[in-house]
Parts: sequence; C-alpha cells; structure tokens
Amino acid sequence: MRGKHVLLGVTGGIAAYKSAELVRRLGDRGAEVQVVLTAAAREFVGATTFQALSGRPVRDSLWDPAAEAAMGHIELARWADLVLIAPASADFLARLAVGRADDLLCTLCLATAAPVVAAPAMNHQMWANAATQANVATLVQRGVRLLGPAVGDQACGEQGPGRMLEAAEIAELADSLLGGVGPFSGRRVLVTAGPTREPIDPVRFVSNRSSGKMGYAVAQALRAAGAEVVLISGPVALPVPAGVRCVGVESAAQMLAVVQRELPGCAVLVATAAVADYRPVSVADRKIKKKTEQLTLELTRTTDILATVAAGANRPFIVGFAAETDAVEQHARDKLERKNLDMIAANEVGTGKAFDCEDNALLVLWRGGGRAELARAPKAELAAALVALIAAHCPAKS
Ligand code: CTP
Repeated sequence: MRGKHVLLGVTGGIAAYKSAELVRRLGDRGAEVQVVLTAAAREFVGATTFQALSGRPVRDSLWDPAAEAAMGHIELARWADLVLIAPASADFLARLAVGRADDLLCTLCLATAAPVVAAPAMNHQMWANAATQANVATLVQRGVRLLGPAVGDQACGEQGPGRMLEAAEIAELADSLLGGVGPFSGRRVLVTAGPTREPIDPVRFVSNRSSGKMGYAVAQALRAAGAEVVLISGPVALPVPAGVRCVGVESAAQMLAVVQRELPGCAVLVATAAVADYRPVSVADRKIKKKTEQLTLELTRTTDILATVAAGANRPFIVGFAAETDAVEQHARDKLERKNLDMIAANEVGTGKAFDCEDNALLVLWRGGGRAELARAPKAELAAALVALIAAHCPAKS
C-alpha cells in the first residue's frame, strides 16, 4: 500500500468509531488516506478526529467552495487508487445500488475508476432484509467488493451477521486488493477462466459446467501478489476481482484471439478455462427447427490455446490445468509434456468434485519431475498456494 491513495468513506453507523482506528492501520501500511464523511457519519464521529489521524482536511460536502477549489470532486475521484467505505450503512448501500449522486461520497463512487470496496455494518435484521440483500447482490454484480460483515455481538445488544470487521482485518484485506508489493510486482500476467460457448445456431450452444471460480480465485491471488492481471473469461456469474482487468469472451476462437492480443509482455499465462475441445462444424444462421426424430451435430476440434502459445516465440511461463476422472498424475504429466507446458495443476473431477464447488484439491506438477499436493481447501486458499509455487518456479524478471 506504500504511497497508494485510499479514499476512506465513512457513513452513518455506530461502527464509525472503528474507522478512526482504520485510518491509523492504513497509514501503518504506508497509504495516504483522505477521509470523506457523509452527513450521518458526522453524527457519530467528529471531523477533527479524522483530520488529526489522516493529516488531511476531511471532505464532507459537494458544496464546499474552498474544498472544491483545492481539489474538485472529480479530481478527488481520480486521485483514489482505492475507495474504501467503512462502515457502509444499509442506507448507503441502497444509495450506491441505485446510483445516487446527491452527496459527495456517492458522487465519488460513481466518478471513480478505482476499485470500490465496502465493509457493511448494521443490525443483523437490516442486513438480512431482502431489500439490503438485493442491493448487495446488485453491487457485487457490478464489481463492488464486500469485506464482511462479521457475525457476533452487535451494538444494539443482539447477535448475528452485521458487525463491521475489525480495522486491522479491513486494512489487511484492502492491502491485498490493491495488489501490494509481491513476487509479481511490475509483471503482467494472463489468466483464462470459465467455460466457452460454441454456437450451434443463434439460440443454442455447446458448453460445459465450469463456474470460473478457480480461475477468478487465481486472478485475485496473482493481483494480491502484485501482478497486473488480465482475466480473459468465458460467460460466468462472478464479480471481477478488484484491481483485475477482465475481457469477456464467448467462444474458444474469441478466447484465443484475445489471449494473442494481450500476450506481448506477459510473464505468465495461467489457463484455468474449460475451453471446449470441439465446436459445431457449421453454425446455422437461423434457429434450427425440429423436423426429424434424430439430429446429428457434427463437431470439429477447436484450436488449443495453450499449445499455440507454448509453440510461439518469447513464450511466457505457462501453467495449464487438467481435469481428470482417473489416473490423474499420469494423464497430467503426459499433458505437461505433450503441450510443452512449464507447470500443470490437476484435479480429479466427477460427481460433486471440482465443478462449481467452493473448494478443491490440486496436484501440481512441473518440469524436471517436481510435484506438490495441495490438500482440499477453499479455492481462494488453493489459488494463493498455487501462485506461490508459480512464483518459486517462474524465471525472475530480467
Ligand atoms: N486448453 C486450451 N485450449 C483448448 C483446450 C484446452 O488452452 N482448446 C487448456 C485449458 O485451459 C487447460 C488445458 O488446456 O489448461 C486442458 O487440457 P486439455 O487437453 O484440453 O484437457 P482435456 O480436455 O481434459 O483433455 P483430454 O481430452 O486429454 O482429457
């Protein structure tokens, strides 16, 4: 976080007292913090506290001519490397979800290109309310990252999910979202993720069960390790990790074209995508009508993206994935050699395993006979362990 600009938005909730501590924790990590208070936040903690802790005058109004003359709200939105809203009240999440711009903090959230991260804090019934949950779903879908809430004792004397995370936890998570200094600092990496869709006619396609969760977790772990990450993703229902650039594609051919376009200057390619191996030979330009009892779909091989990149000049360090139902190690080692990869992460697939699950287990193999078994764990943890192995085996920056 050293030298990074964090715009800390404080909204109206009792947890605002923890935000004073958060300014300190962000500062400890080297961030420059600009506090923006909503009108409701001012009812809980005074601007003087935040000003003293951040060393900057607090901003709280769109209509303050002196502050606007020093740094207008659009400039402030551009200044931010990260917009962190802690606490984020139910009311503020609702206002953000509908795109209001009638106070400074909402306006900054609309005007910024930086990742927006919110740490919700509210009574557990307010958090569970369908309206709040719908607002949260909208925000997550748009790429807003939520930190928490935690479960526990609440200021109202009740118990449940709705507590704001502790300041130290928020600072740590914000730090990793910003992609602090790590083994991949200053290096560009590509990650492919999700399924591809191979069209049959304008309304039908051939695809597979990949959810994209492993690939998105790998993209997030690489970002946390300092990389500039380009995520090339087939259609999935996942939010793009903060700080990651995502290019959406549909077919294997489109994925190949985007990989080739983004490849120059890349240090690593991690191919987690479940690329269709076959596509229909011809795509009907009108919807195919059901006329016969049987219909045969003729398929042809798609181009292997990994093998194509592996055969090119100036190839990056290439990590493939293998999904196998049996003889996992043997098939994966064979794939590593045959596709000329540097590393392969294999998992066993089948009923209830890997696809669309929250956790997974990986067997990682690399050239020269090396191997590591990564035990069953949530995909985010596995991704971090895989990224550590990639960092250990990928040639250092020249
Ligand atoms: N892959 C790719 N381009 C394709 C197909 C696969 O880049 N057209 C990549 C995947 O992203 C993954 C790896 O290759 O990293 C998977 O290898 P693949 O041989 O396609 O696996 P399977 O389809 O499971 O192979 P097999 O038919 O041997 O079981």
